Formats: sequence, structure tokens, C-alpha cells
Amino acid sequence: MSQTALVTGATSGIGRAIALELGKAGHEVVVHGRDALRGAATVEAITRAGGRARFIAADLTDADDVRRLAAAAGQIDVLVNNGGLSAFAPTAEFPVDRFDALFAGNVRAPFLLVAAFAPGMAERGNGSIISIGSMVGAIGLPGGAAYGGTKAALSAMTRAWAAEFSAKNVRVNLVAPGPVYTDGADSDFIKYLGSTTAMDRGAEPREIAEVVAFLASPAAGYITGATIAVDGGRTAI
Ligand SMILES: NC(=O)c1ccc[n+]([C@@H]2O[C@H](COP(=O)([O-])OP(=O)(O)OC[C@H]3O[C@@H](n4cnc5c(N)ncnc54)[C@H](OP(=O)(O)O)[C@@H]3O)[C@@H](O)[C@H]2O)c1
Repeated sequence: MSQTALVTGATSGIGRAIALELGKAGHEVVVHGRDALRGAATVEAITRAGGRARFIAADLTDADDVRRLAAAAGQIDVLVNNGGLSAFAPTAEFPVDRFDALFAGNVRAPFLLVAAFAPGMAERGNGSIISIGSMVGAIGLPGGAAYGGTKAALSAMTRAWAAEFSAKNVRVNLVAPGPVYTDGADSDFIKYLGSTTAMDRGAEPREIAEVVAFLASPAAGYITGATIAVDGGRTAI
């Protein structure tokens, strides 16, 4: 049975890699982001590899736009809450509008998307929801209070959603990456953070995407409510 996956923030970085993996696994992929050109490039990469995809633009910090995205996406079997904002700055200097945008994009948007899609998945008795957290949701980094707060919230929401929906065969999990080399990330910062991991390196987006594709697959059929650290061992040491 063909399944449709919505991947937020799939115009670049980790989300793009996830969209490509899910396309390869046979899902029809709804590619989300804001940049239509990069959206078209992700769609093209999926179709070139033999998959099916379409692009929908929406701003995750705008609740009405998130609801419009949900309506335009139609029936979704796999929801990947990947899109998000990241910002690091000393707490006393952190602008309040930036704080609000982080929580709107990283916490409220996934909440609204789960509200839109999980009841339908439960009714059909099939679904997988995977959110992208961060090791910063579990460890303290200077300047990371707001960002880490959003990722810890996503982790708590994942457990609550697992309690709410798993009995109807809707599995809800969180993947918590360590440092990943992406367009949106400062490569010197990723290199430094990579040097603090047990593996002494940062990750490539594909190394996160393959774990997400596994969680979306029937091979992960008894995994729900889990936070999977994909962080080179950073939270273990
Ligand atoms: N890179 C890392 O080291 C790392 C580590 C742990 C966790 N993460 C998490 O992994 C996820 C992806 O990160 P990444 O590094 O791959 O980021 P990225 O390369 O900067 O890509 C971010 C994606 O999110 C979209 N996005 C950002 N703000 C948005 C908004 N307001 N409305 C709609 N879409 C928005 C972007 O779309 P447009 O560009 O089209 O607007 C883009 O597709 C994030 O949740 C991040 O917190 C990243």
C-alpha cells in the first residue's frame, strides 16, 4: 500500500535527506519549506530517483499557515517534524521575538501538525510520527537555553503523543541528532561540537535520514515513545 509522507523543512539539510530516503523507500513525499526553488530541486531529486513528490510552501512560525499546509497536504501516513529554527546567544541578549519564533516554529507547529494528522492515522489504524529533536534538548550548551528548551519540549510531547495514539498503531518517536553538517549550520561550530562527541566528528545528513526512514518502516513496528540519540555518543559521555 502506497503511503504519503510529509517532511517539514525538506528544502535543505537533514529534511532534504529524509525526503530523499522516504522517496526511495516508496513513499509519495510532500516536501515542505519556504523557498520554492529549493523545494522544486528536492522534488526533482526524488522524481529523478524514481519516486513521487510535490512541494507545499508555508511559514512554520505562522499558525494559520501551518493549518493551511495541513489542509493542502491531504491524507498523511508518515509525518516528519523536521523543519525548525536554531539560534544560540547569551540568555541576557536573546531577543524576545526570536525566542517566540523558536517556540512557534519548533514546538507549536509540530503540535498543530500532530493535531491535524494523528486522529486520521488513529482512525485508519496506521501511522508514524517522527520529530527531529537535538542533543541540545538533553545537554546544556552556553547560549542554547531557548533552542534546547524547544527540543526538550518536543521530546516531552513525543512521549505524551505516544501515550495518546500508540494503541491505535500510530507510533510516535523522536530522533535527537548531534552536530550535523548542513547549509543552515555554521561548519566551524559543527566541527567543534563534533570534537566533543565520542566519535570525534559531526554527522552527514544521510546518517540522520536513514534512522528516520527505519523508524517510518514496518521494521520499527514495536518502537514508540522513544528518543533515539544519533549523536556520535555525545549524550553518553
Ligand atoms: N544541523 C544540526 O547540527 C542539527 C543538529 C540537531 C538537530 N537539528 C535539527 O534538525 C532540523 C533540520 O536542521 P538543518 O540543520 O537541516 O537545517 P537547515 O539546513 O537550515 O534547513 C532548515 C529547514 O527548515 C525550514 N525552515 C526553517 N525555518 C522555517 C520556517 N519559519 N518556516 C518554514 N520552514 C522553515 C527551511 O526551509 P526554507 O529554507 O525553504 O525556508 C529548511 O528546509 C531542525 O529541526 C534542527 O533543529 C539540526
